[in-house]
Amino acid sequence: MATLHIKNLHVSVAGKEILKGVTLDVFEGRTTALVGPNGHGKSTLLLALMGHPNYVVTEGEVFLDDQDVLTLSVDQRSKLGLFLAMQYPSEIPGVNSADFLKAALNARREKPMSLFQFYSKMQTAYKEMGIPFEMSTRNLNEGFSGGEKKRNEILQLKLLEPRIALLDEIDSGLDVDAIQVVSAAIREEQQKGRGFLVVSHYARLYDLISPDDVAVMINGRIAVTGGPELVKKIDTQGYEWIKTELGIAIEKEESVGSIGVCATREALGK
Ligand SMILES: Nc1ncnc2c1ncn2[C@@H]1O[C@H](COP(=O)(O)OP(=O)(O)OP(=O)(O)O)[C@@H](O)[C@H]1O
Ligand SMILES: [Mg+2]
Repeated sequence: MATLHIKNLHVSVAGKEILKGVTLDVFEGRTTALVGPNGHGKSTLLLALMGHPNYVVTEGEVFLDDQDVLTLSVDQRSKLGLFLAMQYPSEIPGVNSADFLKAALNARREKPMSLFQFYSKMQTAYKEMGIPFEMSTRNLNEGFSGGEKKRNEILQLKLLEPRIALLDEIDSGLDVDAIQVVSAAIREEQQKGRGFLVVSHYARLYDLISPDDVAVMINGRIAVTGGPELVKKIDTQGYEWIKTELGIAIEKEESVGSIGVCATREALGK
């Protein structure tokens, strides 16, 4: 089982340092929840790990076992077994969904998959994700609803079979039925031994996918790590205890309507 080692990672975006020394291990076969207030660098970490060109690594290292991830291009990282489901999946006009999936699958094989094999694999994945198969003829994410985009990210995960999947707010915009479909798909992939780093603001998702480890990102660093009890603590108490117990001042707090909402409500006396 592989481990993604992130050590002292510093990342700048548009000339501003956002990640200020992130150290975290993510394990194949385990699920790590990544939580933290808005704007503290969770998406930045995931995008930098996948190699987004706007997220510039200025210091630190990322290894998947003994492979230096930071020297690899985005497609090499994907072939190595990393996968990112984005917080805001991009619409790609002119790229048909089925063609995209076929190209992505074949790029990681020596011999292209037969059309029959590809279609039956694709059909099964669409069915399991509750996405009408006709959507495979549409351009990738173009005009998809918020929930359709999120389901489509997990559909790609199912087909690409990564070793470690990074999921950024996969539950945002999903209706109550869709969250069940998506979390069932994640549970199935967990059982196949995939590793996950899952960002969410909602304890409800974590209740459904039972993370093994929890990391809290504050001010561009991992302030504390622990087990699932950390999600419960944040859900009921918010992030304030980080300041009182650990002495880490939270640079800005905009987190409302998310993990911590109970504590926020309490503070407001509602
Ligand atoms: N392309 C960019 N240009 C300028 N600033 C950026 C860019 N991308 C991210 N940032 C800034 O970096 C900081 C961290 O953003 P990031 O998206 O990583 O936060 P997050 O922890 O994922 O927040 P949320 O929970 O709201 O999704 C924010 O202040 C954000 O405005
Ligand atoms: Mg984010």
